[in-house]
Amino acid sequence: MTQLQIKPYITEEQLQKKVSEIGAAITKKFKGEQVVAVCVLKGSFVFYSDLIREINADITCEFFGVSSYHGNTSSGEVKVTLDLAHPVEGKHILLVEDIVDTGITMNYLKNSILSRKPASLTTVALLEKPEALKVPCKLDYVGFQITNEFVVGYGLDYQGYYRNLPFIGQVQNFQ
Ligand code: IMP
Repeated sequence: MTQLQIKPYITEEQLQKKVSEIGAAITKKFKGEQVVAVCVLKGSFVFYSDLIREINADITCEFFGVSSYHGNTSSGEVKVTLDLAHPVEGKHILLVEDIVDTGITMNYLKNSILSRKPASLTTVALLEKPEALKVPCKLDYVGFQITNEFVVGYGLDYQGYYRNLPFIGQVQNFQ
């Protein structure tokens, strides 16, 4: 495994506070509704598992696997590795992403879900890199807007590693 220098960027405390704020806002929005919360694998599984526990609504869980990254750059091509297990027609969908970088993955996911005719689609991303956007990508909830640097931890990886860091860090020493 490549040993990277990782500079702490968003602390565990900041993450907890933000996740609970977003959870409260989403709870308000979905008052009395049934919601299908879609976890985008693999990067959002940590954020997702914290977030759904902050939402007070009737939630069922679905998983959507996609990949578009090689190392630390986006390939621009989205590959589905795991499709939703159940139809979502007529359901209220909460799509939970870890990070929006070029916006290509989120756009792909939105279009894919909208083509299945849900009752509504709400999007949330923990992180967004506005400077990296290549396609317009409007989100309903965003945790933190960050600069265009590669980050790891709290579910985000570099070559499969570092997802288990409890904080988000910036990578300092890419070759
Ligand atoms: P996009 O399609 O370029 O917006 O990329 C979205 C996906 O790329 C995310 O779901 C992440 O899996 C991955 N990604 C983008 N930026 C980073 C980063 O800084 N660290 C780790 N993964 C990232």
